[in-house]
Amino acid sequence: MSFPLTFAILLLLQCSTTILAQPAAAPAPAGPTNVTKILEKAGQYTTLIRLLKITQVGDQINTQLNNSNQGMTIFAPTDNAFSALKSGTLNSLNDQEKVQLIQFHVLPTVLSTSQFQTVSNPLRTQAGNSNGGQFPLNVTTSGNSVNISTGVNNATVANTVYTDSTLAVYQVDNVLLPLAMFGPKAPAPAPGLAKKPEKKSGATDGPSSDEGTADASGTSELRAKGLVVGFVALVAGSFL
Ligand SMILES: *[C@@H]1O[C@H](CO)[C@@H](O)[C@H](O)[C@H]1NC(C)=O
Ligand SMILES: *[C@@H]1O[C@H](CO)[C@@H](O)[C@H](O)[C@H]1NC(C)=O
Ligand SMILES: *[C@@H]1O[C@H](CO)[C@@H](O)[C@H](O)[C@H]1NC(C)=O
Ligand SMILES: *[C@@H]1O[C@H](CO)[C@@H](O)[C@H](O)[C@H]1NC(C)=O
Ligand SMILES: *[C@@H]1O[C@H](CO)[C@@H](O)[C@H](O)[C@H]1NC(C)=O
Repeated sequence: MSFPLTFAILLLLQCSTTILAQPAAAPAPAGPTNVTKILEKAGQYTTLIRLLKITQVGDQINTQLNNSNQGMTIFAPTDNAFSALKSGTLNSLNDQEKVQLIQFHVLPTVLSTSQFQTVSNPLRTQAGNSNGGQFPLNVTTSGNSVNISTGVNNATVANTVYTDSTLAVYQVDNVLLPLAMFGPKAPAPAPGLAKKPEKKSGATDGPSSDEGTADASGTSELRAKGLVVGFVALVAGSFL
């Protein structure tokens, strides 16, 4: 079994190197899964499609779907869900935060609606660094109804947009707002210093407008993460 595994790893590395080096040139005929195409066909996802494009998360998803056998789950907020955001919410995000917001809607495994009943919270999302777990969300189910809570807001899975063996896309009625970005903001602790207890201030302070806390190395981390996911999948597969 070691030759096919070695070959698979080489192929994976080669694909990834190619992807990093240049945009894929050869047009694949009956191509691999294309998330944008799926959402276009479903309608009512123009904002999500635009964000998938400008953040390049759409390409990452397509690449990972092609390279990983764990699949992916996408919670797709409708255009109405984006319109319902407090005005200026998207514009207040820098590029890195937009990437994280969109990746927060993506799980690195494919989950059927019945699997939501048995997964354990919190669920890992694609957002955050390659250690994962920084941007968790929870699901609760009752019968076939599935709710998602982020700690900031909640959403309900309204519909299955698309499903196959590697990808599930579910319509959600709200944009999922990660706690790490939209929760009460703690001042970034200085490394090595113990946090001092803060005195409680008045209740009306809004979230501060500084948006500078996002990790700036996102894109390469995302690619690295895709590799790690693919590699782990391969190694796991070799033990089956
Ligand atoms: C995916 O589909 C969109 C819309 O149909 C298209 O613009 C894009 O080029 C496709 N991407 C790939 C990699 O085929
Ligand atoms: C999908 O993966 C295959 C090998 O598994 C590779 O030949 C092909 O170029 C990949 N396509 C994309 C769009 O990444
Ligand atoms: C989901 O949330 C709705 C309200 O938004 C509530 O009525 C329903 O009971 C919740 N379902 C579950 C499974 O938590
Ligand atoms: C998510 O579930 C975990 C485990 O049950 C819990 O500790 C955490 O507080 C929950 N978070 C949210 C936002 O509901
Ligand atoms: C979200 O749903 C949980 C139950 O799952 C509830 O405790 C919480 O109050 C809801 N939060 C919001 C903002 O509606």
